[in-house]
Amino acid sequence: MKRFFFFVLICLAISSIAFAGNLKLSSPDGSLTVTVGVDGGRAWYQVSRGNELIIGQSELGFVLKDGDLKGNFKLGKTSRSTLDEIWGQPWGEDALVRNHYNELKATLQEKSVDKRQLTVVFRAYDDGIAFRYEFPRQRGLQDFVIMDEVTQFALPSDAFAWSIPALTAYYEGIYTREPVSQKGNMAGPVTLEVNDSLYMAIMDANLTDYSTMNFSHDGTMLKADLVPWKNGDKVRVGDTRVSPWRAIIIGRTAADLLLSRMALNLNEPCKIDDTSWVKPTKYVGIWWALQKQRWTWSQGERHGATTTNTKRYIDFAARHGMGGVLVEGWNYGWDTDWTRHGDGFSFTRAYPDYDLEGLCRYAAERGVRIIAHNETGGAAQNYENQMEDAFRLYESLGINTVKTGYVNSHFYNGELQHSQWGVQHFRKVIEAAARHHLMIVNHEGAMPSGIQRTWPNLIGTESMRGQEYNAFDRRGGNPPYHECVLPFTRGLGGPMDFTPGIMEYRNDSVPGTRPQTTLAHQLAEYIVIYSPGHMAADQIENYEHQPAFKFIEDVPTDWQRTLVPHAAIGKYVTYAREQRGTDNWYVGSVTDDQARDLTLPLDFLDADKRYVAIIYEDGPDADYRTNPYPMTIRRLDVDRSTVLNLHLAPGGGAAIQLLAQ
Ligand code: NOJ
Ligand code: CA
Repeated sequence: MKRFFFFVLICLAISSIAFAGNLKLSSPDGSLTVTVGVDGGRAWYQVSRGNELIIGQSELGFVLKDGDLKGNFKLGKTSRSTLDEIWGQPWGEDALVRNHYNELKATLQEKSVDKRQLTVVFRAYDDGIAFRYEFPRQRGLQDFVIMDEVTQFALPSDAFAWSIPALTAYYEGIYTREPVSQKGNMAGPVTLEVNDSLYMAIMDANLTDYSTMNFSHDGTMLKADLVPWKNGDKVRVGDTRVSPWRAIIIGRTAADLLLSRMALNLNEPCKIDDTSWVKPTKYVGIWWALQKQRWTWSQGERHGATTTNTKRYIDFAARHGMGGVLVEGWNYGWDTDWTRHGDGFSFTRAYPDYDLEGLCRYAAERGVRIIAHNETGGAAQNYENQMEDAFRLYESLGINTVKTGYVNSHFYNGELQHSQWGVQHFRKVIEAAARHHLMIVNHEGAMPSGIQRTWPNLIGTESMRGQEYNAFDRRGGNPPYHECVLPFTRGLGGPMDFTPGIMEYRNDSVPGTRPQTTLAHQLAEYIVIYSPGHMAADQIENYEHQPAFKFIEDVPTDWQRTLVPHAAIGKYVTYAREQRGTDNWYVGSVTDDQARDLTLPLDFLDADKRYVAIIYEDGPDADYRTNPYPMTIRRLDVDRSTVLNLHLAPGGGAAIQLLAQ
C-alpha cells in the first residue's frame, strides 16, 4: 500500500534493569498518565488525567490451564520508546492519520516457581491509553491455554454505560444506557459517560488469533471476560504471542470518542502491497425485497436473483453512478432450512435462472461489478473448503466484492462466532480474499477492532443491528435513537454495513414494520454511519421519481477529513466530512425521538471560497410516528461565516451538500 510518512520520529529504548518503585508513562501532551506497579506480587496499572484518577488500581495477569500467571510477580526489565508518524489510508474518515504515542514495556517476572516472564506493553496517546500482553517463548510458557484473563478496569464511579449484553447474537442488539452496576455482562466496546468532561470507551483493538473481550463486573470494577471455546478454554496460545490491545479511548466530550483514531493506530500497517484495486463504491442490490419477504432467496415464483431482475439492477446502477450490485440467493443452497443445512451451500454453482457469467459480462460492459453473496448458515468449514475455488472463480469473472454471512447461533463445529476459532475463521476469509483481489463485507462477523488498517479489503462489517430489522422485526424495528448510539459504540472499531436509504416505508408482507425515522434521517445516515461503500438499500423502483434520491447519488463515501460539530450519545449527532479530492463538504445530523434545533456554524469551510448549500431537511409536520416523508430541499449561498439553523423532527435528520464554487 502507498504509505505517506511525513515524518517519523522513533526515539528508542532507554532500557533499565529491575526497577524498585512504580513506573509512569505520560501521553505526548502530558495530560494522561499510566502508573504501573506490583504490590505483594500483584501487578496493576492505573490511569489519571491531571489529578483525576480515571482508572483506579486494576490487576493484570492470567489464569492458565496449568496454573496462575498472576499474583507472584516482581517488576523486571523495562524499556521505553516514542513514535510520531503520519500514515495514509486507501479509504477512510480521514485521509491521513497521526499516530503519536509514548510506549513503556514492562516485564513482569515471576518470583518463584517457574520464574516465567510476562511482558505488558503500554501506550499513552493524547486520546487514550492502551496495553497488551506479550508472551515471550520460554521454558514453562511454550504453547499454553488461557482459562481466564484477569485484566481489570476500575472505573472511578458508577458511570453510565452504553452497551449490549455479552454474547448478543452477532451483536445485533439495541444499545442501552444504565449505570455500570446495573448491567449484566457486556460486549465490547463499552462506552462510558463518567461525568460532563469524561467519556471513555473500552474495547479490543487488533483482535487477532485470540478470543473477543467481553466484560463482567463487580460493582464498578470491570473485568475482561473472554469468550470460550466449547470446551471452556478461552485462548489457545501458539504462534501468536501477543494479546489484542486493551484500548481505553478517553475524551472530554462525546465527540472526542468519534474523532479518536486510536483503534486504527493500534493495528499493524497495511499488509496488502498494492491497494489500487481496493475501491469501495456505493451499491444497490437484490436485497430489501428479500428482507421485506416479497422475494425469496430460494427458487420458485418469487425468486429474486433472476437474470432479468439483476439486469434491471445493473442498468439502474449504471444510470445512477453506483459501482456495485449485490445479488443474494443466486447460488444453490437456499431451498431448505439453510441454517440447519448450511453444508448444502455451493459458492460456485448458480441457480438455472441466474446467468452468472453473462451477468458479470453485462455488468462489466456498463462499468458495474456484481457483489457476490456467500451466506454460510454458520457452516464455516464448508465455506473454508470451497473458498479458494470460489474466490478464484469470482476474480476471473470480474467480481471484486464478496458479502459473507453466518446466520446461526454457533458455527457447525459448535464454536461461537466471538470465540478464538471464529476470529481465526473470519481472518482466513479476509486474507484469502486479499490474495484474489476481493473486498469483503462481513455480516454476522467478529466485533471490528480496527483491523481494516492492516486489511483494507475488509471494507465493511455488520456486527450491529442494521436497517434490515426495520423490514422484518414485528416488534417495531430499530428505535429512533439507534443511529445516535452506533457511532459511539460499534462504530469505534470499523466501518458499518448498515444499509441506509429506505424511501418507501410500506411493507404489506410484514405489516407493522418500517423504519422509525423520517426520510431526511435516512439520508443523513450516509454521513453519520461511516462506511466506505454504502448501499442504497431500497428497491430501485422506490428511487425513481424521488427527489431525495439525488442526495444518495451525489454523496461520496471517501473522506479527506471528518469533524463532529454536535454529539450527545443516544440523543443526536452531527458529522461534517470533507470529500476527498475536492473542496466540497457534506453534513449529516440525526436525532432520537425528540425534535431538535441545532445551530451549525460553517466555520470549517475554506476562508477564500463561496459554497452552494443544498439542504435536505425534515419538512412541515414530519414526524417518524405519523408522517416520515415530508422533506424540504433548499439551496442557498454560504461561506464560512454562515450559521445554519437545523430543525430536526422527532426521529428526524438533515443532510447537507456544501459545494465549493
Ligand atoms: C443476514 C444478513 O445480515 C442479511 O443482510 C442477509 O440478507 C441475510 N442474512 C441472508 O444471508
Ligand atoms: Ca445480520
